[in-house]
Amino acid sequence: MAEKKLNYKNYLQLDKLLDCQLVQSKAAGNTVHDEHLFIITHQAYELWFKQILYEIDSVRVLFDTPAKTLDEGKTLNIINRLGRVSLILKLLTDQFQILETMTPLDFLEFRGYLSTASGFQSLQFRLVENKLGLQDDNRIKYNQQHYRGVFCAHADVTALEDSTGNPSLFKLVEAWLERTPGLVKHEFNFWGKYRKAVNRWIDECWLKPALAEEDPIVRETRMLEYRKQVETFESIFDPEKHQVLVERGDRRFSHRASQGALMISLYRDEPRFHQPFHMLSLLTDIDSLMTKWRSNHVTMVQRMIGSKMGTGGSSGYHDRYKVFLDLFNLSAFLIPRDFIPPLTSSMKRRLSVLSHEQLDEVDAEYQLDISDDETDDSGICPHSNTGNDVTDIENGMKEVKVTFDLKI
Ligand code: HEM
Repeated sequence: MAEKKLNYKNYLQLDKLLDCQLVQSKAAGNTVHDEHLFIITHQAYELWFKQILYEIDSVRVLFDTPAKTLDEGKTLNIINRLGRVSLILKLLTDQFQILETMTPLDFLEFRGYLSTASGFQSLQFRLVENKLGLQDDNRIKYNQQHYRGVFCAHADVTALEDSTGNPSLFKLVEAWLERTPGLVKHEFNFWGKYRKAVNRWIDECWLKPALAEEDPIVRETRMLEYRKQVETFESIFDPEKHQVLVERGDRRFSHRASQGALMISLYRDEPRFHQPFHMLSLLTDIDSLMTKWRSNHVTMVQRMIGSKMGTGGSSGYHDRYKVFLDLFNLSAFLIPRDFIPPLTSSMKRRLSVLSHEQLDEVDAEYQLDISDDETDDSGICPHSNTGNDVTDIENGMKEVKVTFDLKI
């Protein structure tokens, strides 16, 4: 039998694709014009969800190598695909506008025909959430209902189990960040150097100006700001405090992975960190757009049915739904460029993509910097680990006791 010639129609299976808009109001003999748009919009969403899943799955495979190391030759692929997911999500957040051309009254005309069907039953949406790494504990139940309760078909249940059973993108990224070069203590010891730099910055830019302030009211305000900074950094320097925040859901990454993310952000100008930094930015974009999706969806729902579903998972205002929450909060731990510890020549080499000759030149340039830099990595300087006791500072100001635990 002669093989059927491939053409536009059969390649895209258009017969099937364009024949699956079953307008319920029409079937009931009471055609409502806007139901067609309602179906097409949802189907377009589901097709794009399918593409997002396809991309996330492929990125998970690129990360999850048997050797548990990321092949740097693949990072461009990862960036390209994450960028694609981000653009699709952008399109999906905007796409609600088309459905909003339907008025609430138009919707009301066919709403009854939808019976018990609801977006809450979108399997692919749950798979996207799970594969990105949304934890069950962070979900807010809608009408006391767990999302899994609406899926009974064996294939759906298996797909959901698979989506939570295999490492999520979050877990893979976390493991990758934990391996960031420069974290090892006996090598570059980023953490020791960073702590020392933070102490210097807080001392020079927060404590000293506060103490020099003559007006007692302004001084007290500045001291409060200073203490706030100390407290913020304490939460990242003290692994136990970090763990408490993880358990509370306010932090997600392991302590080590947070250090990796911070190191990449601070040294993003180094050639070998360009792509990792780009990757972290794209993950933040994806999270941000998922939040926007929820927010745009709930706004549209309110407009259509006046529902008060803002307290449910769809509200979009909850940090609980941000998978890469730590990447958003990273900015709280950045320090000005002038305070960033200089790289040692060996670290500069590791993060370089230069030729041997060029590296030798860099070496010569960095020779001077490292002598000063590698002498003390304890991180113990102005804010010693016994705490900062600023007692009776000028005009009998109250004693300030701030413990800045530098042990790790
Ligand atoms: C007139 C338009 C829409 C209305 C009135 C509407 C209404 C709702 C409502 C009330 C819920 C809460 C759960 C429930 O009551 O079952 C919900 C959830 C949901 N809807 Fe829509 N929706 C609309 C359009 C869409 C579109 C276009 C999509 C695209 C796929 C969508 C996807 C979802 C998803 C995934 C959920 C679950 C969200 C979560 O639990 O976080 N909805 N929707």
